[in-house]
Amino acid sequence: MIQRRTVGIIGTGNVGVAAAYALFNQRIASEIILVDQNKEKAEGEAMDLMHGQLLVGNVKVRSGSYEDLKHTQVIIITAGVGQKSPDESRLELLNRNASVFKDIISKLDKHAPNAILIIATNPVDILTYVSQKLSTREPHRIIGTGTLLDTARFRALLGEYYGVDPRSVHAYILGEHGDSEVPIWSQANIGGKPIEHNTIMDKPYNREALDTLFQKAKNAAYEIIERKGFTNTAIGVVIARIVEGILEDEKSVIPVSVYWDNEYGITDVCMSLQSVIGLDGVKDRITPDITDEEIEGLSKSANVLKESLAGIKE
Ligand code: LAC
Repeated sequence: MIQRRTVGIIGTGNVGVAAAYALFNQRIASEIILVDQNKEKAEGEAMDLMHGQLLVGNVKVRSGSYEDLKHTQVIIITAGVGQKSPDESRLELLNRNASVFKDIISKLDKHAPNAILIIATNPVDILTYVSQKLSTREPHRIIGTGTLLDTARFRALLGEYYGVDPRSVHAYILGEHGDSEVPIWSQANIGGKPIEHNTIMDKPYNREALDTLFQKAKNAAYEIIERKGFTNTAIGVVIARIVEGILEDEKSVIPVSVYWDNEYGITDVCMSLQSVIGLDGVKDRITPDITDEEIEGLSKSANVLKESLAGIKE
């Protein structure tokens, strides 16, 4: 019998609802259980989604409590506060959200110890690390959304710049999902042709223009928050993509926040690295040959995260 693909979502705020909608509309999950301390909100979102069943297909959506998550394969954590203004960095959310996570992880360990956890709440890298330390489940079964979103933004901007499908732009961002993230230019290519130092699609190599595109990708959240007050739709499809890679046991390679154990000489931190994703979570990591400058950038990212983490430990 085909196992039902049951996904839980903790938090039905803007991000949780966007993730639920993406999973529902793409039929990645066969059942979605929405959990929120505001039970009425979770119930209303489930009802609203369910009324689209005729047009989407037989995807069951219901609200529930932690006790209902026992048979979920994947649980997404979006609960917590988001950046409230372009002046607030993701790292500044840390203390408010870290205390929320202690309660959430304890309940998930009790009611759904076998589910893979996807962390989406910011600061996502630190909360992924904290969740791995708090939880009884193995670290490779706890994944942060990390820089998959930044990479998606980066590839969308590069695709627009060169006039090609973003899916054909092979470029990614690693490290912190935040202000210290690192573009891996040394590996960026289109059709196998390196972007660096080359004319592509009649676009002559322009270092300044490319750096501007990276800055746009890195600062996109601030620009969006200034206009609509929050971000949610792109992170929603990012979450759905990670869930799909897990449930389909794809073994696809995507940049997500994982525990670093001496990759590029960096250890004891969670941030984004190219990772092989499947039914058991992170199956492996891939560390391509990158430049010393890129490794230095990743080390800086790690140090930024470790300094912020130290703030919790005190
Ligand atoms: C963003 C949030 C998810 O970058 O951190 O949109």
